[in-house]
Amino acid sequence: MTDTYLRLVNSGVTKKLAKQLGLPRPAVLRRYEPGQPLVTGPVLVLGRGDSLPPAPDAAPTSPDADVVARVLAGWGLDVRRHPSQLEEGARWGAVVVVLTELEEPTDLSGPMLALGGTLRRIVPSGRIVTVSRAATPDDGPALSAVRVGIDGVLRSVAKELRAGATGNGIVLAGDATLGGPSVAGLLRFFLSSKSAFVDGQLVTVSSDAGVLPGTPGDWEKPLDGKVAVVTGAARGIGAAIAKVLARDGATVVCVDVPAAGDALAKVANQVRGTALQLDITAPDAGDRLLAHALERHGHLDVVVHNAGITRDKLLANMTPDRWDSVVAVNIAAQLRMNEQLLASGKLAEGARIVSLASTSGIAGNRGQTNYAASKAGVIGMVRATGPLLAPTGGTVNAVAPGFIETEMTAKIPALTRQVARRLDSLQQGGLPVDVAETIAFLASPVAGGVNGQVVRVCGQNLVGQ
Ligand code: NAI
Repeated sequence: MTDTYLRLVNSGVTKKLAKQLGLPRPAVLRRYEPGQPLVTGPVLVLGRGDSLPPAPDAAPTSPDADVVARVLAGWGLDVRRHPSQLEEGARWGAVVVVLTELEEPTDLSGPMLALGGTLRRIVPSGRIVTVSRAATPDDGPALSAVRVGIDGVLRSVAKELRAGATGNGIVLAGDATLGGPSVAGLLRFFLSSKSAFVDGQLVTVSSDAGVLPGTPGDWEKPLDGKVAVVTGAARGIGAAIAKVLARDGATVVCVDVPAAGDALAKVANQVRGTALQLDITAPDAGDRLLAHALERHGHLDVVVHNAGITRDKLLANMTPDRWDSVVAVNIAAQLRMNEQLLASGKLAEGARIVSLASTSGIAGNRGQTNYAASKAGVIGMVRATGPLLAPTGGTVNAVAPGFIETEMTAKIPALTRQVARRLDSLQQGGLPVDVAETIAFLASPVAGGVNGQVVRVCGQNLVGQ
């Protein structure tokens, strides 16, 4: 489950050789450690009217960029407002491009060319974040063109970045406000090393209504006092989710099948949580995990539907047991559990449900018709369930991992695995912790404005992007 190639091209003689041969050289990504600085250099905020070189008649007049700059300065970051403000030899930690005020496609050239002028001076694992508004049916053609155009720009910039840098976008919709907690929370996640393997993503913030009181509160322990259930927690991505939620302050109920009991107990002990042996396809699985959480811990705030299986076969060779078991575990069980959890009325206010989808569910994958049906089904499910939780401040979202280094992907034949790893903008597979960090963000009180969405954790995998 380790990427030997990545290690070789980043060390000693083999690093030099790879450089000489022009081989792809995936970077070692900066990943989160408690106490580390949010970004590792000054942050440039660009907005409407900014350009490089400065247009003679253009005073940078972007009230929206000022709002974002104030949020960043409030976190103690070194915020600059013009590309010329970088010292000789220094590099930008991040560039935030505020595009909310653009009215037509020609408005893009100033800020985007200014951004272009900074790209050779970004730190390794640096960050580009765009902030824009969602197109609405009421937009005129020019406004709609620029708003949708920004999506194309962001996805393309992300593909041009090197050395572990990523590009992601925040899209404001509904009554979300630029200086509000939801936008701030998402901006902080994108800037931080917690989003190491999230690349080329545009995430919509639709409201601040679901943000829990007291938010943002503690950025280091955002889940303090929360109780979270994680299914499929005995190993792989589920175990990583349990650990990250516990690190962020949650008490974690770790769920897995009885056959995985020993491994499950180990994870539960490690995170100082409790273990619940439960097959999630049991007809009363939702009621049972709720009862466990309430009896042992008093409340239930976060549910992560991570348990999932694959039974790959070409459709021409598909058998009923392969089809039915995948649909039963990956989607039917989640639907039934959510129905029971919602019907109970006992989920905490502002509850967060996060499901595991997959890039296979977005783009399809040969040999995975059953799996793709279930994972695309998860996307449909979260879209329809999100609004059901919204009145109590709750949210329901999905995370779609791309290629992640786990026991599941270790079974892929070696050559196919090597190729699969390089098929994203970061030229490497992600780690279970990368998926876990995104889930922890979506589970956090500050993420209340993100609802019914799918966030890919795939390094901008070429599949379906
Ligand atoms: P894994 O196979 O390593 O772990 C899955 C866990 O779920 C196991 O501990 C298993 O015992 C448990 N589980 C399976 N059926 C269960 C049931 N009926 N009741 C309770 N627990 C059950 O898988 P991995 O790689 O950690 O994947 C986790 C999730 O992420 C899955 O939903 C998977 O589809 C999804 N995913 C994984 C990707 C990858 O690259 N590894 C890519 C995209 C999505």
